[in-house]
Amino acid sequence: MNTMTTNMLKRSLYRVTTPIFYVNSKPHVGHLYSVLLADVDCRWKRFNGCDSWLSTGTDEHGQKIQKSAQLKNISPQQLCDMMSAEYRSLFDIAGVKYDEYVRTTQRRHQSAVQSIWTRLRDLDLIYKGSHSGWYCIADETFYTDQQIMDTVDDDGNKIKVSVESGRQVEWIQEDNYMFKLSEFKDRLIKWITGGDNERSVIYPQSQRNLILSLLQSADGLKDLSVSRPSQRAGWGIQVPDDPTQTVYVWFDALINYLTATGFPSPVWNLQSPKASIEYNATIDNHIVGKDILKFHAIIYPAMLMALNLPLPRRITSHSHITVNGQKISKSSGNAPVEINQLINTYGVDAVRYHLIRETEGGIQNDFDYSESMLRIRYQIELADQLGNLLSRCISKSMNSKLEVPELHKQVLDSTEQKLIDELNRLPELVSNHAEDCEYGRYLQVVVNNLRMVNQYVGLKEPWKLFKQTGDSLSQKNAYNCLYIALESLRISSLMLQPVMPQKTTELLDKLSVPPECRHINQSQFQSALTGRKLAPGHKIHLFPRLPIN
Ligand code: MSP
Repeated sequence: MNTMTTNMLKRSLYRVTTPIFYVNSKPHVGHLYSVLLADVDCRWKRFNGCDSWLSTGTDEHGQKIQKSAQLKNISPQQLCDMMSAEYRSLFDIAGVKYDEYVRTTQRRHQSAVQSIWTRLRDLDLIYKGSHSGWYCIADETFYTDQQIMDTVDDDGNKIKVSVESGRQVEWIQEDNYMFKLSEFKDRLIKWITGGDNERSVIYPQSQRNLILSLLQSADGLKDLSVSRPSQRAGWGIQVPDDPTQTVYVWFDALINYLTATGFPSPVWNLQSPKASIEYNATIDNHIVGKDILKFHAIIYPAMLMALNLPLPRRITSHSHITVNGQKISKSSGNAPVEINQLINTYGVDAVRYHLIRETEGGIQNDFDYSESMLRIRYQIELADQLGNLLSRCISKSMNSKLEVPELHKQVLDSTEQKLIDELNRLPELVSNHAEDCEYGRYLQVVVNNLRMVNQYVGLKEPWKLFKQTGDSLSQKNAYNCLYIALESLRISSLMLQPVMPQKTTELLDKLSVPPECRHINQSQFQSALTGRKLAPGHKIHLFPRLPIN
């Protein structure tokens, strides 16, 4: 076991967060991917014997929501209630197990935001000023002159858009409150570049470098406008003691991570940062899309520094799911599929598997959504590898007694010894990928192993060897083959638990693996399982045939 895993075993609670999702319209497959990564990360830690905690929720304030409700002819609160329920139900259907669900319209969150505001104001880190710039409602972000460009809209009108998101901006000049973000530049750079170099706080490296270059750019880090006039942007949290101003939606939203950990409960004491550390509110992994990394890697840590609160241990930035190379987004309306329909057709675990598996090239790379790829994976990897190995291991011709046979070590050949060695290397290989949330690569390792074992069984043809009843060497060889296949199936099923919790439960139940033996420390090849009875039945269709397209 590597050091990471050993350290995790010692830690009491591993905290992961997802971004909170805008409620301007229904969730799409990109949102599902974002939350799945976090769920898999938490389940991985539990598989390692560590308690984990996942927080998610919905981002319900701001002009974007206000506008969207207006268009639908309903109140913002009605829209928030409706859409927040949609997200919650999607997470339930997708097997996402969360511990906290923060809605920014909740009273607990409003009091967290207002108490943080008051504290920052008392520290003279928030001041009244005026601000001008290009504001993009869709991104809820101000851009500078350098960050925008001219273009024409669908009707041929000249407009200005953000270079980064391509969405329309408008010029705004207004009085508001500013947060002294510029004061934190050096500390932020030190935080990002310092510490344990082996494990950078921002992953992947390319995104870390991007954030660093933003911080080190000639423009430097400017103070941040953290409120909007209520007249223009009234749907939000009121600035304490100033009803004319509403808290900026990103400042409001980022605080959800503190709300989720119980802020501002009595255990939290802003005067005594030590108390908050004892309360163990440190987040181990903020999982965010690359489009919102700068909010999490610059603004939020600066807020925490200002408040003397513990900084996150890691921020993982993932890529986007695209359609024809374009990010799937609510505003472009290019969502290729209804998630519920997808899950109904392929089953929840196959969808989870596919979305995570798509990142085998690394989570820094965008990937195009493809249902045909999902079908191919379902057939070739899930049905033909995992499902097939199970069918073989419980078939009448290979395992008539439905039990784990004896392992005859003295007749193991070099191929078999190599397979056993490979199986024993699996935990370390997958741990290394899991440490960086590279679960696509993690799955690739597991499925490659399954492929090797299936190939070996196909060549060995134990069903033929079993028929040679008078030949004791053939019998021993056949039992060895069955033993290795069963062990490979057990170990792969253990490893696949974080990604496919339902199917692996079925599998491990079938193999009669007791619940207390489903942890990583049980995932080495064992040679003494002889005699364990499998659950009755020679047939099980783990991955049924798909309907023809
Ligand atoms: N509300 C803000 C986050 C505030 S967190 C304090 C927000 N919401 S969002 O609904 O637009 O996006 C939520 C998450 O979904 C982000 O991590 C974003 O990157 C992710 N995704 C949105 N579209 C996506 C894809 N097409 N592909 C992958 N992830 C996608 O930003």
